[in-house]
Amino acid sequence: MKVVAFNASPKMEHGGTAVVLNPFLDGLREAGAEVELFYVRKLNIKPCLGDFACWLKTPGRCSQRDDMDMLLPKLAEADLVVLGTPVYVDGMTGALKTVLDRMVPLVQPFFELREDHCRHPRRYEKADRKLALVSVCGFTELDNFDPLVTHVKAICKNMGSEYAGAVLRPYAMAMPYIKRKGVPIDDVFEAFKEAGRQLGRGGRMDPAVLATASREMVPREVYISVTNASFQRDLEALAKTAGD
Ligand SMILES: Cc1cc2nc3c(=O)[nH]c(=O)nc-3n(C[C@H](O)[C@H](O)[C@H](O)COP(=O)(O)O)c2cc1C
Repeated sequence: MKVVAFNASPKMEHGGTAVVLNPFLDGLREAGAEVELFYVRKLNIKPCLGDFACWLKTPGRCSQRDDMDMLLPKLAEADLVVLGTPVYVDGMTGALKTVLDRMVPLVQPFFELREDHCRHPRRYEKADRKLALVSVCGFTELDNFDPLVTHVKAICKNMGSEYAGAVLRPYAMAMPYIKRKGVPIDDVFEAFKEAGRQLGRGGRMDPAVLATASREMVPREVYISVTNASFQRDLEALAKTAGD
């Protein structure tokens, strides 16, 4: 199984997205998948020009020369695409959306009816390509992911991919701290990896495993008060530095 994965956090390997995405990708590799991970921040990908040159002037090829030249053939060949992104203002990061906009050369200009809906036919893609979401957010409630999950499901229908499910982790960024404090969360890390293994074996992610990946790690009142105290300390230190 060929997997193309994106980590769309500008914090790259130091962010909460990596805390979840890396074990998930390890699980895929353990199951035998060939995984290529791309940090979106390192890629040179310009915004779509909207001129449809990739449909009508140079079919299948964008008029712009950048890292999409390298990515498009990999995306066309991938069995699974993994979108790893933090929630930014209730959606994916803008940089990742730019990558998705630039995937339009993978479809043809024609209209067709698919599942009673107007769509574009795929240009090259494997009929069984899947798309999975791995996302983190800063707030505590799982419903922070609702708009993003709805969006990714719509993208799957639009691009003719199968929605392979989502690993969703509120306050992932705090996980190393929570673990250092002795809160038992190894099962949550293991769930990220197990979800990857399950997809890598060609199956579906078990809802019980996904529930463990998303489970409450500390009562939200505790998370809120510890986080606020940390912000307060940072701001007081800043004020002190400014006053020195
Ligand atoms: C510009 C921006 C917008 C954000 N918007 C949301 C949001 O709408 N909901 C939320 O729960 N967290 C939001 N967050 C918090 C991030 O999702 C959270 O900090 C996450 O850990 C960032 O992932 P990263 O550490 O991999 O970069 C936002 C963060 C930034 C920087």
